[in-house]
Amino acid sequence: MPALLQLLVHLLQLYEASSLRLADVIAAGDLGYRCPSRCWCELPHPAVAPSTAVLSVTCSGKGLTEVPCDLLDPATLELNLDDNRLADLPVSIAASAPHLRVLSASKNAITKLNKNLFTALPNLVELRLSHNRLQNLDAKDLSSCVNLRIIDLSHNMLSVLPFDLLDNLPVWFEANLSHNRLRSVTSQSQTSAGSSTDALERPPVMTARQLNRDTRLDLSHNLLESVDSRFRWPVASCPALLDLSGNPALSYTGSGALKPLLRSVSADCDLDELRLRRLGLARLPAYAFRGRDLRLHSLRRLSLASNAIATVENGALNSLTRLSELDLSDNRLTEIPNLSDLNNLMRLDLSHNLLTIFVDPTRLPANLRWLSLGRNSLHNLHPSVFTRFASLQSLDLRDNGLKDFRPTRQQISGLTELLLGGNELRREHLAGIFAASPKLLRLDLSRNRISQIPDNLTGTVRICAFSTSAGMDFLRLSHWTWEPGSWKSWT
Ligand SMILES: *[C@@H]1O[C@H](CO)[C@@H](O)[C@H](O)[C@H]1NC(C)=O
Ligand SMILES: *[C@@H]1O[C@H](CO)[C@@H](O)[C@H](O)[C@H]1NC(C)=O
Ligand SMILES: *[C@@H]1O[C@H](CO)[C@@H](O)[C@H](O)[C@H]1NC(C)=O
Repeated sequence: MPALLQLLVHLLQLYEASSLRLADVIAAGDLGYRCPSRCWCELPHPAVAPSTAVLSVTCSGKGLTEVPCDLLDPATLELNLDDNRLADLPVSIAASAPHLRVLSASKNAITKLNKNLFTALPNLVELRLSHNRLQNLDAKDLSSCVNLRIIDLSHNMLSVLPFDLLDNLPVWFEANLSHNRLRSVTSQSQTSAGSSTDALERPPVMTARQLNRDTRLDLSHNLLESVDSRFRWPVASCPALLDLSGNPALSYTGSGALKPLLRSVSADCDLDELRLRRLGLARLPAYAFRGRDLRLHSLRRLSLASNAIATVENGALNSLTRLSELDLSDNRLTEIPNLSDLNNLMRLDLSHNLLTIFVDPTRLPANLRWLSLGRNSLHNLHPSVFTRFASLQSLDLRDNGLKDFRPTRQQISGLTELLLGGNELRREHLAGIFAASPKLLRLDLSRNRISQIPDNLTGTVRICAFSTSAGMDFLRLSHWTWEPGSWKSWT
């Protein structure tokens, strides 16, 4: 009991201290801000001039059923109402805090947006409403928020993709609509306007590119299954990053709408990154990224992780000439796909597949810098594969049951990171590893059959980090001698 009392006293002291801090902040600015009693108000930069100070009000996790609007200071620029029981956002927020730039009300029970509220908040830059119960959005609701850049509507119940909404926002760069119930891709204004004059009225693509260089549109984990064949992606809604992961009905086979969807977005937009994870894809057909109107020539990052891909047909990825990062991890590949034509590929993730042999190094592009083959069953690496590793900087071969690893001198001389944890390597492999890769900064040899490091190895490495136990704790090794820890924790 005394302990509990002590704790209470301590908590009270903390509370006093924090109130004092707030008082100090207010006194420092000599501005006399108002703060609703259950909220925490702060000026992150009390030293800066009042005109640029950001008054941020946090009322999260207080079980609020109403917004304490009457107590909000008119200078409030950021309002956090996360994790309460609000059913709506009243227009009185804008009346009390008309300059609001950030409004966050995630994890509430909001069912619809109040148009009048947003009309009165023209300075809003960031709106976060994830984990609510929004079912419908009227594009006009937010059309007066011309400065809105970030809009998070993930984890709601939206069923129609609000293209019109995005079209109305001139500078948005992050729209998160993941975890909703979006089914089809259509655009209200397009279908009603008719398509013949559409092409003429369309702004030039270049404008869209300039406007939306960094835009990220997350449509993952929805129920997307169809796309109107005449549908053209609204240029103002062009994303640089498009995430379509976790839409189980999107596929290349049968009536799968993946291809038409990619066609519509690639016809007018320059995609930089595409995420197609968890779509249940079993194979990548040769036509996957080719065809009329399918122009993915600007794509630099592609993730196909966590599908069930067992086959990548020859040439399936060859049209993606600018591709620099490819993620095929967590699939069912039994052989390394022929990627030799992807001359710009720098980063390749083939981890967590069913690879058992790797004998033909010419399947890998020559300029690869980063390669992961972790979590496969590559018990042996054919000596010829090392010839393809010359430009590699990072190689991950963890958890393969690898029994042997004998690169010859200089074959992996560019490596700064070598991850060999979870294999069956022995002490006699060490000398070869050290000799072949003089630039190593990070080496993981945990979970192997190495019980002791020969003393005469230390002189060959400059600065090195060793993972010594299953938990990846790295020991630093610098300037020819081992630093703290020595060899004791080797397992
Ligand atoms: C969208 O929101 C989800 C969950 O709220 C999050 O996991 C994801 O990272 C967000 N997407 C982007 C592109 O930020
Ligand atoms: C891989 O593809 C290239 C060209 O696309 C071809 O020249 C080469 O023979 C192929 N390699 C294998 C092993 O099929
Ligand atoms: C280290 O010592 C072992 C014998 O203990 C020897 O076989 C090996 O060649 C030596 N390595 C180097 C790099 O000197």
